[in-house]
Amino acid sequence: MDYMNLNAFISKKTTPVDYLTSWEAPSNIALIKYWGKQDSQIPKNPSLSFTLSSSVSKTEVSFKPKKSGKFDFDFYFEKKLKPEFKPKLQIFFKRIESYIPWIKEHDLIIKSHNSFPHSSGIASSASAMASLSLCLMDLERHFFPSMNKSFFYQKASFLARLGSGSAARSVLGPVALWGENRTLETCSNLYAINLGEDLNPVFKSYQDTILLVDRGIKVISSSKGHDLMHEHPFASNRFLQASNNLDSLLPIMKSGDIDAFIKIVELEALSLHAMMMTSTPYFILIKPNTLEIIQRIWDFRMSQKIPICFTLDAGANVHLLYPLEYKRHVLSFIDTDLKSFCENEQYLIDQVGQGARKL
Ligand code: DP6
Repeated sequence: MDYMNLNAFISKKTTPVDYLTSWEAPSNIALIKYWGKQDSQIPKNPSLSFTLSSSVSKTEVSFKPKKSGKFDFDFYFEKKLKPEFKPKLQIFFKRIESYIPWIKEHDLIIKSHNSFPHSSGIASSASAMASLSLCLMDLERHFFPSMNKSFFYQKASFLARLGSGSAARSVLGPVALWGENRTLETCSNLYAINLGEDLNPVFKSYQDTILLVDRGIKVISSSKGHDLMHEHPFASNRFLQASNNLDSLLPIMKSGDIDAFIKIVELEALSLHAMMMTSTPYFILIKPNTLEIIQRIWDFRMSQKIPICFTLDAGANVHLLYPLEYKRHVLSFIDTDLKSFCENEQYLIDQVGQGARKL
């Protein structure tokens, strides 16, 4: 680990203040998957994602100078006090307190909402941790007004990563890249960067329609899944494969070669689930309807010559990815051929977005 870089993220102590702020941060869908990590949330391979637009978390934080005792906070989700979410947040605050030492001088009330249904199986930790981290950085910028914009977002992503790895990629859009790699020297394992300039216009309005196949509780959490990569017989080859796939994908993101894009994105999705199926213990998160939908996507792509493809996150839902120009055609295909394989025929229409914003 680069301790020189880490020191840059340690802020000074200051006098506590009354402060209220709220930020909205999007969910993201990985094209190159993060699956396997070291201590302090350092990924075993670089990952790349589309930042989404409509699937967001909104978080409001009220800071008050601490009256007495040790650091504490209340957490509300969808207007209800949720003490059961506190342990995860306590771990987060423990991990970040040395970087924002001023936090211990405050009491916090945190209120969070999601735009998407809580039980939809869409990971909310990325958008939730990113929006909370941006609220924290908002106060830090209030303390240190000379802070520049790029440091603000870099440190927000750095803090978010310590809450949930993929949250590092939920700060900036339209495409976020997290983790060191051979192709881009500006990348870091500590935070994600934005791939704005090197992006073909076709990807700036790319569509992600999320087919909600199963909203059930996961048999194995992402954290546990990452852990199982430590003893996984294929781990080192998988990390190499992901890095190579990223090297191949970066020029494609620039050229806009959709056929080449599809080959890498689908390979990554299936490789992620192959790791799950070959862990000890092994587990399966996809459902029969996931496979049915994938087969239908392939048939539709062949017969209609429309470049749709899929990706999967750590669950059974299918993210259907395609260029904006095919939206009408694809939505009618979903209506006639796919939605009956979704739980309650539900799906969410989303697209690539610009990243987090202050409310
Ligand atoms: C399959 O970011 O949820 O979505 O760092 O333990 O919080 P933690 O894991 P998390 O893992 C995401 C896994 C994934 C792939 C990805 O988003 O890259």
